[in-house]
Amino acid sequence: MVDTKVCLCGIEMENPVMAASGTFGYGLEFAELYDINILGSFSFKGTTAEPRFGNPTPRIADCTGGMLNSVGLQNPGVDGVIENELPKLKKVFNKPVCANICGNSPEEYALVANKLDACSQVGWMEVNISCPNVKSGGMVFGTDPEAAASVIAAVRKVTKKPVIAKLSPNTTDICMIASVCENAGADGITAINTLQGMRIDLRTGKPVLANTIGGLSGPAVFPVALRAVYQISRAVDIPVIGCGGISSPEDVIEMMMAGATAVQIGSANLVDPYACRDIIRDLPETMEKYGIDSLADLCTAGR
Ligand code: FUM
Repeated sequence: MVDTKVCLCGIEMENPVMAASGTFGYGLEFAELYDINILGSFSFKGTTAEPRFGNPTPRIADCTGGMLNSVGLQNPGVDGVIENELPKLKKVFNKPVCANICGNSPEEYALVANKLDACSQVGWMEVNISCPNVKSGGMVFGTDPEAAASVIAAVRKVTKKPVIAKLSPNTTDICMIASVCENAGADGITAINTLQGMRIDLRTGKPVLANTIGGLSGPAVFPVALRAVYQISRAVDIPVIGCGGISSPEDVIEMMMAGATAVQIGSANLVDPYACRDIIRDLPETMEKYGIDSLADLCTAGR
């Protein structure tokens, strides 16, 4: 009998599989399809202080090996999440959830974190300093060490819950940003968010996305994410969540061999809403195939 349990920043998880922010809403649509309690956990949609409609459409574009999105942090705002989404989630999900928080300033991040800190359902605070689809905040903070540190420090001040920095690959030195976040008080790192990309419609000669540029995710980015996890997990002393193009139990194991303590499944949920369910179901058999007894032992094995 293999052991899929892991511990992420002091919180035990039955398995390392989380659904990634922006691909699982606030969980409710997926709960209609299967029992989402089989997940290790999930990170809910990036949440800001005020409701946001997001960017103009079209904001999704297909590409080989993945997809582009330029959603622009559409969300009901933190009060809407607390009043409407979390109470509904409580009825269908009995584990700690990861709150993905966003803002235009360190103060906004702190305000959102402070409100979510009071919610017992929230286990981890995932600080999104990597969204490529907003003009201010997001990736703008995550690619500037001083700004990254000020956001993490501001969130750290208002919560005792584990603070996880979600990092952008659109930077020359992701390990340096990870170290800066660790020094500012982060308890963990999620790597990676999407890579900036674009497509042009040959019939019009114009960008497919109304916002011109979006974020690339899907199997095409898996080697980039794996490389980032490998390097970051050797550069910092806090756990790393591997995210980017994971679409099979083999990918989960490979990501943990690279150094991830847990993983997030993103675009695979949009291709097949049962992706997480099937990966979790097939994980024990895949572990047996490769002679792996315990996932918790795997992430430190190669370091
Ligand atoms: O545009 C979006 O809502 C994407 C968010 C993210 O990549 O973090």
